[in-house]
Amino acid sequence: MGEAVVVNNLRKVYRVRKLVGKWPADLLSFRWTEVPALQQVSFSMNSGEAVAYVGPNGAGKSTTIKILAGVLRPTEGSVRVFGHDPFRYRIHNSHNIGVVFGQRTQLWWELPVIDSYRMIAKIYGVPRSDLDKRLEMAVDLLELEKLLHRPARTLSLGEKMRAELGSVLLHGPRLLLLDEPTLGVDLSGKRRIRQFLAHLKKIGVTVFLATHDLGDIESTCDRLIMVHQGRIVLDGMVSELLASFGHDIEVRFADDRVEGRSLSDALGLEVSGANGRFVIHGKGTEPPVSVVERLFSLGKVVDISVKAPDLEFVIGSIYDRLSGGQSSCGHTSG
Ligand SMILES: Nc1ncnc2c1ncn2[C@@H]1O[C@H](COP(=O)(O)OP(=O)(O)OP(=O)(O)O)[C@@H](O)[C@H]1O
Ligand SMILES: [Mg+2]
Repeated sequence: MGEAVVVNNLRKVYRVRKLVGKWPADLLSFRWTEVPALQQVSFSMNSGEAVAYVGPNGAGKSTTIKILAGVLRPTEGSVRVFGHDPFRYRIHNSHNIGVVFGQRTQLWWELPVIDSYRMIAKIYGVPRSDLDKRLEMAVDLLELEKLLHRPARTLSLGEKMRAELGSVLLHGPRLLLLDEPTLGVDLSGKRRIRQFLAHLKKIGVTVFLATHDLGDIESTCDRLIMVHQGRIVLDGMVSELLASFGHDIEVRFADDRVEGRSLSDALGLEVSGANGRFVIHGKGTEPPVSVVERLFSLGKVVDISVKAPDLEFVIGSIYDRLSGGQSSCGHTSG
């Protein structure tokens, strides 16, 4: 296995020139200001892991990806990708990684996609047999057949993204860095991209996926790291995060005189509803099956269903808490 990525106390500050004089007369009056993008960011990823990297706009996701890709130099801290400093060993790093920035492409605009693919394979020195194999996989999973002979400039946004994803697989990267790969892509395009990523994960490629689209996470990632205002505020398994939020249990009693308040007192849980129909809001500290058993002991149940919390609700709740001023939400594990 081994570690694919190790980031320790990473800090990144952008220096930006700010005009202080009056536009347009006083063009030379400016001063430098610092924009802190990342502060004390630490995390690591084992080879073969698929990690979602989430956080509100401006949190620092793209900055992290650019640093891992070796495009940006960190201000402080240490970053290792397969044991090497990605900025210092950019060329070496580029052979190990594939990078996709949503809505941007490395394909040659005027060339048919397949010609761009051949050029990329040539640049990386990919043997013909490997290229054929990888191309077949990309065409199959991303359904590229009809796009291969069209110049990149004629492709729609979603088609371009699929073609782009195919291109980053050709040199056989061990780590994929993806910055919103499904941005602006329609539902069937997303489905293809997700099946492609799931397949890469299956064959052992490490995936680091920054996204606002939680469907991407559910189909691909086991672990989730959340960044907020340049700091890691959560790092854990998606399943544990979901479980910690508790299930909702919808129940209907035969007797519509059962009262919500007495139910809530008996269960020690929040209850909403009336007239024998209730939703019990689990806390995540007790397995839902145990709450169900307790419900059966409280009256004759005629209907019951258990609803797992969905990722959108969970992440939305955490964002709400963060924007309410909390800097950590208690799940941080590293
Ligand atoms: N080139 C730059 N110069 C100055 N500031 C920058 C630059 N790039 C990013 N920033 C700032 O750094 C912070 C982090 O930006 P970053 O693009 O990494 O966020 P993000 O999490 O990718 O956001 P989004 O979800 O909107 O893509 C923001 O405050 C942003 O304004
Ligand atoms: Mg971004």
